[in-house]
Amino acid sequence: MNLVTILAIESSCDETSASVCVDGKILSNFIANQTVHEQYGGVVPELASRAHMQNIVPVVDKAIKEASSTHHSQLTIHDIDAIAFTQAPGLIGSLLVGTQFAKSLALSLNKPLIAVHHMQAHVLANLIDENNRPDFPFLCLTVSGGHTQIVLAKSPLELEVIGQTIDDAAGEAFDKSAKLLGLPYPGGPLIDQYAKLGNPLAFKFAEPQIPELNFSFSGLKTSILYFLQKQEAGFIENNLNDLCASIQYTIVNILLKKVKKAVQQTGVKQICIAGGVSANSGLRTALEEMGKKHGWKTFIPKFEYCTDNAAMIAITAYYKYQANEFCNLDVNPSARAEW
Ligand code: KG4
Ligand code: ZN
Repeated sequence: MNLVTILAIESSCDETSASVCVDGKILSNFIANQTVHEQYGGVVPELASRAHMQNIVPVVDKAIKEASSTHHSQLTIHDIDAIAFTQAPGLIGSLLVGTQFAKSLALSLNKPLIAVHHMQAHVLANLIDENNRPDFPFLCLTVSGGHTQIVLAKSPLELEVIGQTIDDAAGEAFDKSAKLLGLPYPGGPLIDQYAKLGNPLAFKFAEPQIPELNFSFSGLKTSILYFLQKQEAGFIENNLNDLCASIQYTIVNILLKKVKKAVQQTGVKQICIAGGVSANSGLRTALEEMGKKHGWKTFIPKFEYCTDNAAMIAITAYYKYQANEFCNLDVNPSARAEW
């Protein structure tokens, strides 16, 4: 029996990552983070593209070597059956580096090419752990720095967005709130850290009333700003833990209220989360508690599969390979792609 070996590349934002997967089993997932952006308080697209150019060859090389060391026999680039890459959405310059590299490799090795949608891949990261994966259909709350979506997954390749943000993403809500508190970028993990020591009910911030399963976070940011402007000097320093706990509590509440509504609307009780914000301890705990209370089965991928990574691109490509969903060499990346 022939095993399907896939090399996948992710370069949509500021992580360069490569992964090798054999028959749906992830053998390596190498991720190079870009530290160059820290001093600018956000990702600088041009610098991200340049860093991808520098990283891509060593990252792919490391992913293949790591896979070879865990594989039962030596694995080389010639054992790869298909090359997968993130085609959309993301920063166009960053996507271009991964796309061009994947195309060149596919052409030189004469292997098929598989284009993967980054948001679909975030959802399918929940299928990586063969011992703890949801059955279909399931719901996925995808929360990252760029996106906030509720997805109804009917099969690996039948995903429907049933709710999404109309302005900021959940990660942006964390990062922008953190900025108002004077914390460095990305502030999400810092809010999480301080929140552990604070009282989530100390301060109350506005929760938006948005119809259907959609989200909005821009009002929360304004509410925090106005609240802070009314306070005396030293207020933030003296109340940092309580402020972070209250902000986190509000964001988690906004997210989980809509998840509850999605369960009521669809009747689906298997709930996954994905994306960088699913690392948030407040969200993880609240989701698990809500799951116990309402009889849901909840799934949270390992941290390395929550933030941007190529393993999720590889697992998605594995399903596309089985469905014969290949693309031509004239494929182009897209910054914004319809789902
Ligand atoms: O999925 P991701 O790594 O990259 C994107 O595709 O955007 O998500 C990054 C986002 C950032 O906004 C970051 O602040 C947020 O995830 N984040 C967190 C935590 N860890 C990462 N937000 C809250 N709590 C965390 N522990
Ligand atoms: Zn992402």
